[in-house]
Amino acid sequence: MNTNSEIPQEELLKKKAESIRNMFGSIARVYDFLNALLSLNFDKSWRKFAAKVSDVKPDTKVLDVCTGTGDLAISYSKLLNGNGLVVGSDYCHDMLKYGLPKIKKRHLENKIKLIEADTLQLPFRDNAFEISTVAFGIRNVADLEAGIKEMGRVVGPNGRVVILEFSQPTNFLFRRIYFFYFTSILPMIGRLISKSKIDAYSYLPQSVLAFPDKLSLKKKMEACGLEDVKFFTRTLGIVTIHIGRKPQHTS
Ligand SMILES: C[S@@+](CC[C@H](N)C(=O)[O-])C[C@H]1O[C@@H](n2cnc3c(N)ncnc32)[C@H](O)[C@@H]1O
Repeated sequence: MNTNSEIPQEELLKKKAESIRNMFGSIARVYDFLNALLSLNFDKSWRKFAAKVSDVKPDTKVLDVCTGTGDLAISYSKLLNGNGLVVGSDYCHDMLKYGLPKIKKRHLENKIKLIEADTLQLPFRDNAFEISTVAFGIRNVADLEAGIKEMGRVVGPNGRVVILEFSQPTNFLFRRIYFFYFTSILPMIGRLISKSKIDAYSYLPQSVLAFPDKLSLKKKMEACGLEDVKFFTRTLGIVTIHIGRKPQHTS
């Protein structure tokens, strides 16, 4: 009998990465629509806020990993107001396919470049960007710490690593209502609309519940070599934005 403990760790991570890529491929067509519907359109303001608090300067070069259909990349590009450059990377071809027309529609094709790449092996030299950022993506990366380190590698000294991710509300009453919606209603609507055979919208709450809480994520970012890690919660703690700085001197 083949058990998980007999499969090498590397092989397991590869399998996880593959099944997650297939899952996003299966919902890419309805991803934006369901994001807006299931978050009551809050998702846009969360990304906008994340871009706003990441200390963007004119000419900043931003890398948005796990960019999916490019919404966070678009938020940064709008903030840069025609300056700088944003690169959006993702390993799911279908997600990127739905991002490109959105970028063209906004005439941002010279300002946002989309590339197919694994966040665990970014095809960029060290220190190539001022900001590396991710929205709702790092939770899905098969090796969280390796993903954060890779995001840190590609930003220069004093560069920022910005993570926007779901978190767990702390208010007792709101938490109960929210969890009922998040674990029961949301997967049902997701299943009905996406018609995906892979149950992506049940995976969503499961992966959020398994993800490190705000303080643990801060500690993980610090363990990955980032400094001054601070975080901002939004919408009663449904999401949190963590920002860490790469030290001026790395040993
Ligand atoms: C929930 S979507 C988030 C998309 C987008 N950032 C947003 O704000 O809507 C997660 C994305 O992460 C991508 N992803 C997960 N693991 C990845 C990896 N190792 N490398 C590249 N992309 C990855 C998936 O393909 C998917 O497009």
